[in-house]
Amino acid sequence: MRDGAFFRERRAAFVQAVGNGIAIVPTAREKFRNRDNAYPYRPDSYFWYLTGFPEPEAVLVVADGRSILFCREKDADRELWTGFRYGTEAAREVFGMDEAYPIGELANRLPELLLNRSALWCALGMDSEWDTRILAALKAARDLSHPGKCIPAHLHDWREVLDMMRMVKDEAEIARMRRAAEITAAGHLQALKACQPGMMEYALEAELTHEFRRQGASGHAYNPIVAGGANACVLHYTQNDRALADGDLVLIDAGCEFEGYAADITRTFPVNGRFTAAQKDCYEIVLAAQAAAIAATRPGVFLNQPHEAAVRVLAQGMLDLGLLTGSLDGILESHAYRPFYMHNTGHWLGLDVHDVGFLKRTDAEGRESWPELKPGMVLTCEPGLYIAASPELPEAAAGLAGIGIRIEDDLLVAATGVEVYTHVPKSVAEIEAVMRT
Ligand code: GLY
Ligand code: MN
Ligand code: MN
Repeated sequence: MRDGAFFRERRAAFVQAVGNGIAIVPTAREKFRNRDNAYPYRPDSYFWYLTGFPEPEAVLVVADGRSILFCREKDADRELWTGFRYGTEAAREVFGMDEAYPIGELANRLPELLLNRSALWCALGMDSEWDTRILAALKAARDLSHPGKCIPAHLHDWREVLDMMRMVKDEAEIARMRRAAEITAAGHLQALKACQPGMMEYALEAELTHEFRRQGASGHAYNPIVAGGANACVLHYTQNDRALADGDLVLIDAGCEFEGYAADITRTFPVNGRFTAAQKDCYEIVLAAQAAAIAATRPGVFLNQPHEAAVRVLAQGMLDLGLLTGSLDGILESHAYRPFYMHNTGHWLGLDVHDVGFLKRTDAEGRESWPELKPGMVLTCEPGLYIAASPELPEAAAGLAGIGIRIEDDLLVAATGVEVYTHVPKSVAEIEAVMRT
């Protein structure tokens, strides 16, 4: 494990928040496709954030200012079949845990650990099997308690604390996200170069997958979208099983996962390497919307501001293209742009592609608020324009039916501004030049 100091620092902050309570943070369960054949294993993001421990059947317990890991014991027989296990000794020595015990001892030890703690920190509702185990441990602790001993009287959700921590990335996280971005950019570049009319969407997907794995990413951070023509108007199109037609655009939304961290990049380009005039008109509007959103991204602004900047440019573009009529202010007020742009311009990015942290809150009086951007936060910037074929499309814009465009980059909020740290050809000229070679 590298960067152990960062995991220790995160645990120290978490230990402090838990105080004289107790926290239980389990990792993800291994899931089976059929019989003894498992899906590729991916640890739970919260657990990974605090431990860097990669194996299933592990639980972090924080109590008394100590980090206690319950994990699988070393087992020569099992390791012969399914590979290396760290075991409890390495949990202490390699992962810096204060104590470590075999996972089989958790049920016995937990009731004792719950005694005399002011509060229990867990994520009730996240996993019903864990809810049941934790409630059973509480009951067992109550049965154990006697005068002078008590069980936690308060319940807290550690997501409140960990979400806030995860929203601001530390140096080790930023390094991993930069690497995820580099590998993802290489995959997109490879796809740009490989694209040909008649190719299947999945064959283009394979160009990305190959580059991701070749460069050491664990794979895709989310199901990749390779959407030719009108498929791009389906926001989460993931079938990727159609042929790419000459004269169409193709939208690729794909990002790799590197050491747990996601990149999230979208590019849209012509299958045959040359934008038509109509495609170019639409593309330039989305590109300008992205530039406006990026220009509105810096510390101290609220998350809705880049979105509103993008929407203004997109709505003006919709007027210019003949998709809408009326005044710009009227369109913004009535949200008439929504049939052609129906999603947010960005989301948090990190261990999860749609990372933790709130996007918008509504208080009891119905007042909405958005989070304020701070240095170290990472978010995407992904405006789009989706012109699905519809009898409601105005005559003037009928020729645009089936055009779907999104341009997505990943942004690190810096001390005074913003850094776009994903680099894939983006202007019409750059894209056409790469595709010509
Ligand atoms: N790839 C999912 C998204 O862009 O939000
Ligand atoms: Mn995204
Ligand atoms: Mn995306």
